[in-house]
Amino acid sequence: MPSPLPDRFPRNFVWGTATAAAQIEGAAFADGKSESVWDRLARRPGAILQGDTLDQACDHYHRFDADFALMRSLGLRHYRLSLAWPRLLPAGDRTVNQRGIDFYHRLFDSMQNHGITPWVTLFHWDLPQALEDRGGWRSRCVPEAFAHYADVAVKAFGDRVKHWITLNEIRCFTIHGYGGLGKAPGANEAPGVVNQTIHHALVCHGHAVRAVREHGGRSAKVGLTDNCETVIPLTETPDDIAAARAYFIEANQSILGAIHGGRYAPAYLRRCGADRPKVTRGDFALISQPTDFLGLNIYTGLFVRAGKRGRPEHLPPSPSYPHTDSPWLGLAPRALYWGPRLAAEVYGVKNLYITENGCGYDDDRVVNGECHDLHRVEFLRSYLKELQRAIGDGAPVRGYFLWSFIDNFEWNDGTTRRFGIVHNDFKTQRRTPKLSAAWYARVIAGHRLC
Ligand code: NOJ
Repeated sequence: MPSPLPDRFPRNFVWGTATAAAQIEGAAFADGKSESVWDRLARRPGAILQGDTLDQACDHYHRFDADFALMRSLGLRHYRLSLAWPRLLPAGDRTVNQRGIDFYHRLFDSMQNHGITPWVTLFHWDLPQALEDRGGWRSRCVPEAFAHYADVAVKAFGDRVKHWITLNEIRCFTIHGYGGLGKAPGANEAPGVVNQTIHHALVCHGHAVRAVREHGGRSAKVGLTDNCETVIPLTETPDDIAAARAYFIEANQSILGAIHGGRYAPAYLRRCGADRPKVTRGDFALISQPTDFLGLNIYTGLFVRAGKRGRPEHLPPSPSYPHTDSPWLGLAPRALYWGPRLAAEVYGVKNLYITENGCGYDDDRVVNGECHDLHRVEFLRSYLKELQRAIGDGAPVRGYFLWSFIDNFEWNDGTTRRFGIVHNDFKTQRRTPKLSAAWYARVIAGHRLC
């Protein structure tokens, strides 16, 4: 029996939007901030579309007050942001940059004045270049420096920040950063090295959890944000569901499996062979500390069916499969049903947040003061409907953060790919809420799709 859709989202459901420091702040070299690996990559010819840099981005560094006023006018009371590590500790470790600390205090003051609750990611890809110069994620120097950074950040802001996210999308800054896939630092290492970068990221996650427990105060909550492989059963029949679940478990063994299992699964280590990560004594005690929630970034999914003898079979999409302007982002609303459901079932997670979901298009234009992003409204509506179905079927999803509040620096795609519900004119820095912003404001106000 298909489950009836509940009319409204749960009463305390958290509605928000998300961004990241490097993508919106700009002021890339102001007030003592040092170069990040993305600042460096942006200077490599051909690395970023149009040769865009992060130098100015949305200039949020100077405009946050107006941005929060706009956010509040849309009824947004929760906001996921990240701290820029190179702003707070320019060398990665050692000396704290007081001007960086002061900036975030001003930012949190403004959020408080506008009645907006911060959800703070400690690391969203902007590794200080100084640490990359010492080996970056390949080396144990990053977890060591990160432990100090996490302590500094949680001690400085722990009285005002009660929701902490340790790291954002480990596979992106490890596999895509060191495995020849173009993200910063733009390295191309052997599989064993890449596996080691993932392991070091897991250790950092552990340090962040420890830092929040030690310095965050009793009401502080902490969790990881992961972009796990989201798997969708081709048909919602027992065989395909079982196949999807088996595929999900295997595809996520290196990160979620390791964190929740307290070790690397033997099957994962067998697959790695000689390229298996080196684990130092005590690592897994840190890595597998209990957390308060799991954040999932869900944009798309892999379709899987039960093949011969029930074996999971992945069906790659054909070129005609509909997708957004990001080629990797195929339309798959059911990802927002199966992602939370499988994560909750497989890992026993009790509190899930969708920490990112949204879509990128290149042709969002402002005409007569309006931006008619109908494609985004339909995208969000179809995804949220599936999220609502998941909640109706018992998935413990407590909140949803739309990516993104504003068009911003979309990594290798520079400023060409727009994910915001607020349009940004990067020349004038004029903000224009799109049709999707007005639609989302109504959803939030009514706790229901409209
Ligand atoms: C995931 C990342 O966390 C975010 O930084 C990025 O902009 C969005 N996906 C869209 O690609």
